[in-house]
Amino acid sequence: MQSDVSSDWYNSGAIIPIKVIRATAEMSRYAADLQSHGRRLGLVPTMGYLHKGHLSLMNLLDGQCDVKAASIFVNPIQFGPSEDLSRYPRDEARDLELLEAAGCEVVYSPPPDEVYPPGFQTYVEVEELQRPLCGSFRPGHFRGVATVVLKLFNVTGCSVAAFGQKDFQQAMVIRRMVADLNVPVKLIFGPTIRESDGLAMSSRNVYLSPEERASALTISRSLFASREACSAGDKNARKLAAEIEKALQSDSRIRIEYVDIVDSETLTAIEKIARPARAAIAVYVGKTRLIDNIELL
Ligand code: PAJ
Repeated sequence: MQSDVSSDWYNSGAIIPIKVIRATAEMSRYAADLQSHGRRLGLVPTMGYLHKGHLSLMNLLDGQCDVKAASIFVNPIQFGPSEDLSRYPRDEARDLELLEAAGCEVVYSPPPDEVYPPGFQTYVEVEELQRPLCGSFRPGHFRGVATVVLKLFNVTGCSVAAFGQKDFQQAMVIRRMVADLNVPVKLIFGPTIRESDGLAMSSRNVYLSPEERASALTISRSLFASREACSAGDKNARKLAAEIEKALQSDSRIRIEYVDIVDSETLTAIEKIARPARAAIAVYVGKTRLIDNIELL
């Protein structure tokens, strides 16, 4: 059988048509073949409907690996029963074009039963970090995330993987899992990429009506204001959180799920900002759930 990874088609400097792999067995074979040639794979796990935030992670892989790869998989086990799994936005053809332009060579884009075949029953739980913030409103969410990410690491055999700080709790959960389970993957965390007016890029922004899109700006504005107040000397976490809440409550289209100021390592709520801390928000704007966070110290 001809090798998937002959030395003449990668690293040649030529533009290589992107390779899409749907079967898990084929992805594993490709990974093993790559490893046998001493080539390192870098992975950006995604749920597709890509934007500049995802593509910024692809760029972070430059110089960190020999082959840049992405996964596109809307992971059913990280969605609750009343969440947006069935209507999650998808446009694979567009995603593949964007990935190819960003230098991605391989995309693992499996159907659900290639990831969760009948009989699947093993899950990863990062017990403490999965609990606060989004964890208390989306039970089972981070268990689903940690499980799929470990599977994606195993199937793709990646040596390096990039994640965004937009999903700060997710990044912390994955970092803990990798440390606790001795997963041999180097993690890179990229900053939140925003629209020019400050709104954090998200695949879910497409759900917003023009009026909701305008309301959603209050999220990033209130976070920026909080960071300014903090650097001007206001270290009282409750007061800062109350100010964010006030700004969000002034818009009738916004319903707050949480506004928390937490220790950046443990993600537990703090009273006084004396060590690295983040302000984190989850709100509904109309029917769309949006999250954002910012480093305060
Ligand atoms: P998804 O929401 O598609 O995001 C994929 C990656 O892009 C994550 O690491 C996320 O933090 C990052 N990202 C999203 N918006 C960003 C932005 N505005 N700036 C920077 N990075 C951004 O997160 C997931 O998918 C899934 O939970 C996944 C990890 C793929 C597991 O299913």
